[in-house]
Amino acid sequence: MDNLIILKQLQKGAEATISLANWYEKKVIIKSRKIKKYRHPQLDERIRRFRTIHEPQLIYEAKKAGVPTPTIFLVDTTNMLIIMEFIQGKQVKYLLPLLSKTERSKLCFKIGELVGKLHFYGLIHGDLTTSNMILDDYDKLFLIDFGLGEKQNELESRGVDLHLMKRGFQSTHNQFANASFRDVMSGYSNVIGEPFTTNILEKIQEIELRGRYVEERKLK
Ligand SMILES: Nc1ncnc2c1ncn2[C@@H]1O[C@H](COP(=O)(O)OP(=O)(O)O)[C@@H](O)[C@H]1O
Ligand SMILES: [Mg+2]
Repeated sequence: MDNLIILKQLQKGAEATISLANWYEKKVIIKSRKIKKYRHPQLDERIRRFRTIHEPQLIYEAKKAGVPTPTIFLVDTTNMLIIMEFIQGKQVKYLLPLLSKTERSKLCFKIGELVGKLHFYGLIHGDLTTSNMILDDYDKLFLIDFGLGEKQNELESRGVDLHLMKRGFQSTHNQFANASFRDVMSGYSNVIGEPFTTNILEKIQEIELRGRYVEERKLK
């Protein structure tokens, strides 16, 4: 592709490859979906095409919902790649443990507000881990990686979205998981209101109980 200089590969995930590149003298991120040999070729093409188009659509929708996301510069369904703005900053996953209690609480509140905005607008992120959040050098929080997202208004999907985040906090940030998740929910409530937040907390509890029930059944 014209003027595109790959600087380095940042991640090779199961689903996509992420590279940092220079494009018209600007740093950009390339997210590409490579051919998977184990899939039937036509099905493979359909899946890669769907994901290449679907993710930028959701990233754009999230922006409309008031959630900072990387700007999409190009969607290329021939090479199955997206070129997007490079967010210069720190991944929340690494930042969170380095912060003071007060700073951490503020950041988690902000995370909750952004998730609240997504949900209020009818969007589900699908992978709300702190790896998919970047605090840029100007202190603006971005959500990235909408590959598993969807447009959805169901209480259940929103509950699952937050439940996944709670589980992520417990495994990645165990020392302060409970306090941080409470802060997230305060931010969420600030955007979406208390009555709905009470419903969603009940939903999360229900999902947790369901999970425990399945675990117990497995042990019997
Ligand atoms: N727009 C971006 N700006 C800065 N870093 C990014 C951007 N997109 C992705 N990254 C980095 O690459 C990693 C993987 O990208 P992501 O979209 O989350 O793909 P995956 O689906 O493989 O998790 C992110 O965790 C982040 O560190
Ligand atoms: Mg990711």
